[in-house]
Amino acid sequence: MNPAVAHSAVNQGVAPVTYGSGDRPPRGNYARAGADYTCAQDWNAYTEADHDTFRRLHARQLQQLPGLACDEFIAAVQQLGAPGRIPRFDDISERLLKATGWQIVCVPGLIPEEAFFALLAARKFPVTDWIRQPEEFDYVVEPDVFHDLFGHVPLLFDATFADYMQAYGAGGLKASRLDACELLARLYWYTVEFGLIATKQGLRAYGAGILSSAGELRHSVTSPEPRRVAFDLQRLMRSRYRIDTFQSTYFVVDSFRQLFEATAPDFTPIYARVRETIAREGEVEAGVVLPGERQFSA
Ligand SMILES: [Fe+2]
Repeated sequence: MNPAVAHSAVNQGVAPVTYGSGDRPPRGNYARAGADYTCAQDWNAYTEADHDTFRRLHARQLQQLPGLACDEFIAAVQQLGAPGRIPRFDDISERLLKATGWQIVCVPGLIPEEAFFALLAARKFPVTDWIRQPEEFDYVVEPDVFHDLFGHVPLLFDATFADYMQAYGAGGLKASRLDACELLARLYWYTVEFGLIATKQGLRAYGAGILSSAGELRHSVTSPEPRRVAFDLQRLMRSRYRIDTFQSTYFVVDSFRQLFEATAPDFTPIYARVRETIAREGEVEAGVVLPGERQFSA
């Protein structure tokens, strides 16, 4: 899931964080959503073709995980349940609640940032319920149920990562008031969606955008093309990103603990410093490495 400025955006003037944001309204039926944008998962509305799409996507990603996905993800991916059907969100929530106190909630699609942050801060992860059409099998512009479930939910079973996600939501609510959502969105993009982690066995992916992508999983971990830079919060917040192609820069954490601790302090002075640096030295384009930066090779 990524937050977005939807058609009735609560939080105006903030750059949306979507896969391919554009002028058209977000996909999904928002008439059935409540004030917090959640709704009931209409499980009976899925067709056999929908379940088959999910099953094939799941199978394709699962066989790629060894050696590319982090251990925490691989250990938890089975918590999604039997892969033959689109899972019932309530079943996953029951297991997730016991594991880390999180739940997943159903949403019609992309939701406004503030609604998104409020759900995360309450340890609720919004999952889109519609699934891509067969012709979108390799690429779907907006996140669907496969991206949201397969990409995001397994790591919510990890205690440290789960705490990080809640802290991100709380930080997001604050960033809205500080007009800093664009800087904070970069943190989400480069960690939750496209993060890499250094392990004793080598680099592994933990970002949902990578883990739910057929091609980017191998690219992110093994290709010599992209830059892989050691995680640094302020550097990351200066960094632009691309939404229309594989990433040309990834940020690498040593552990989820590092991620949680680096993002625990009050961001108010950090935003100020990042803005000062951007005013002085500019933003960093995707694919650019700064002098002296620690890099990881594939
Ligand atoms: Fe996502």
